[in-house]
Amino acid sequence: MNNTYKIIGPIHQLVTMADLPIKGTLSHEQMPVIENAAMILKGDTIYAVGTVEDIQAEAKTLGIDWTPNAEEALPVVIPGFVDSHTHICFAGSRARDYAMRNAGKSYLEIAKAGGGIWDTVTQTRKASEKDLTANTIMRVLRHQEEGVTTIEVKSGYGLSVEEELKMLRAIKDANQAVAADLIPTCLAAHIKPKDFEGDFDAYLQEISEKLFPVLKAENLANRIDAFIEEEAFSAKVVKPYFEKAKEMGFDITVHADQFSASGSAVAVDFDALSADHLEASGEKEVALLANSNVVATALPGASMGLGCDFTPARKILDAGGALNIASDWNPGSAPMGDLMMQACVLGTFEKLSNTELLAALTFRAAAALNLNDRGRLTKDMKADFLVYDVGSVHEIFYHQGKIKPDVVYISGEKI
Ligand code: NIG
Ligand code: FE
Repeated sequence: MNNTYKIIGPIHQLVTMADLPIKGTLSHEQMPVIENAAMILKGDTIYAVGTVEDIQAEAKTLGIDWTPNAEEALPVVIPGFVDSHTHICFAGSRARDYAMRNAGKSYLEIAKAGGGIWDTVTQTRKASEKDLTANTIMRVLRHQEEGVTTIEVKSGYGLSVEEELKMLRAIKDANQAVAADLIPTCLAAHIKPKDFEGDFDAYLQEISEKLFPVLKAENLANRIDAFIEEEAFSAKVVKPYFEKAKEMGFDITVHADQFSASGSAVAVDFDALSADHLEASGEKEVALLANSNVVATALPGASMGLGCDFTPARKILDAGGALNIASDWNPGSAPMGDLMMQACVLGTFEKLSNTELLAALTFRAAAALNLNDRGRLTKDMKADFLVYDVGSVHEIFYHQGKIKPDVVYISGEKI
């Protein structure tokens, strides 16, 4: 284990996110900024955070003589972003779907022309595990450069025991090769595979009986997701599937309320970590989520990709809910994958304070993954942080995602 101390500073503005709650509104004034700050890292974690004077004193107790050097000053430091919902393990492109959709073609017409999720399943099945690992790494590297230091990655384009395993093994291999932390999720319940002989119940039963034990045995995923929607899986069909997953100790997350109010109730019933999408959530669903421990995850990239409504993020926060923002980066509905840009656009339309936006990209996103060791720059947290060459933290949001971090640290190391 690396126990070396390293001092980062002086920092003009250090945004810690310390002491902010997981749920509810956050005002502009609540942005937790330390001016003229510094940090001591111990290996891959944060040992101390404070003003330059605090850190000088703390360093002394460790026998380190540190004098801040203005020439080494960092402008603005914020926590690394956590993207709790992506589908970046895939092969092929759906550029044709996108063009057809924008030219006014319906979902059905696109599917008839060979598009939709099934097209990506076909292309992903044709790819080797190695190719999928390489594709995932390529997208992770882009995300890392843009400041995303923890990335959830779903399966769901395999849709058979063997093909889902191929995807999850590829994600595991990709995780070994990158600095970011990849959190795998099994989304075998994405859509019913066209080539499965049997109904929805039979498909999910096969997955839970044959795939779940291997996920445990090979440590491939600790999270089970399902797309709950008319053309995907109904709440009724998902019930025994989630019951089995819970029995086996998996965490639950749900694609909920994307096109119709269907899924947030299931998320609450199963005490899911998060309910994601929620573009079609009404007052009832917002209240239900806000009164639960389920993190409500907005996916503005999917709204922008499909040209549909944004998640009612303002209403969720005002009702006292926990709002997280993730990219949903996937080849179909959200091909862009620029998390910060998407969050800024959502902030403009939904009237979210910069504190609410940054919370939704950091510690609240970490809560959606059940990770309480990151997302804030405070003692004992993972040393994942971003350095921006701007005058204040608000400049980052003002440029609507166009400005990327100059330096990214993951586990205490510059990448
Ligand atoms: O989260 N809603 C379902 N699944 C994905 C889309 C995946 C795809 O189109 O390939 C989503 O938007
Ligand atoms: Fe998704």
